[in-house]
Amino acid sequence: MKILVLEDYEQMSLAAADLITAQVKEKPDSVLGLATGGTPVGTYKVLVERYQRGELDFSKITTFNLDEYYPIKPDDTHSYRYFMNDNLFNHINVPESRIHIPNGEAEDAELECANYEKMLDEAGGIDLQILGIGLNGHIAFNEPDETLVPCTHKTPLTESTLEANARFFTDGATMPDSALTMGMASIFRAKKILLLANGAGKREILTKLVRGGITTSVPASLLLLHPDVTIICDKDAAPKD
Ligand code: GLP
Repeated sequence: MKILVLEDYEQMSLAAADLITAQVKEKPDSVLGLATGGTPVGTYKVLVERYQRGELDFSKITTFNLDEYYPIKPDDTHSYRYFMNDNLFNHINVPESRIHIPNGEAEDAELECANYEKMLDEAGGIDLQILGIGLNGHIAFNEPDETLVPCTHKTPLTESTLEANARFFTDGATMPDSALTMGMASIFRAKKILLLANGAGKREILTKLVRGGITTSVPASLLLLHPDVTIICDKDAAPKD
């Protein structure tokens, strides 16, 4: 596992965007795994600027997002679908037909998850997966538990996650208490993984990730088993010695 500690959020976002840019230039038909949350917003902003300057072409890429609240309508402003449109997809030239996000209003959640997993298979797996990390060590919505689920599945959200994400629901809207999420094996099939974290609030969990051993109570610690993981963080989030 490589850990890159950068000065601040801006530098972290630039470094992450550089890795994604290199991936897309090297393999224009890359399959990118994308994350939501506050952390990757700066990275997406840099990618949009590069696209607008004509330096990047997303016309051949395929994207898979990690997760979506459940139930939620895709056009709900709190949905991850809306977030991705707003922060990235509406501003670049990735074809709609190659964008994948679990459908938060699917009637049959199990079927939706099975189909999502099938589409991941058909796309040949993910070349580069972007991840954030929850304060409780979750990646995507794989919440700490005695056992973790391998494939895309529906999951209840923990108190910690409901509290952490309440900041996105300050307009009185109720946060869904469940989500559809790629599982640990779906994420682990990615050839390369890039985990981003910033701010002092993430320092403790990053320290647990790198120094606390491998445990399902910190799902991100399983990343220690993956052969190609890079963590990029700012100095406030850098793991303690
Ligand atoms: C969310 C998402 C994760 C994300 C994490 C951290 O709930 N499901 O994919 O990485 O929590 O979010 P943030 O970047 O806002 O701290």
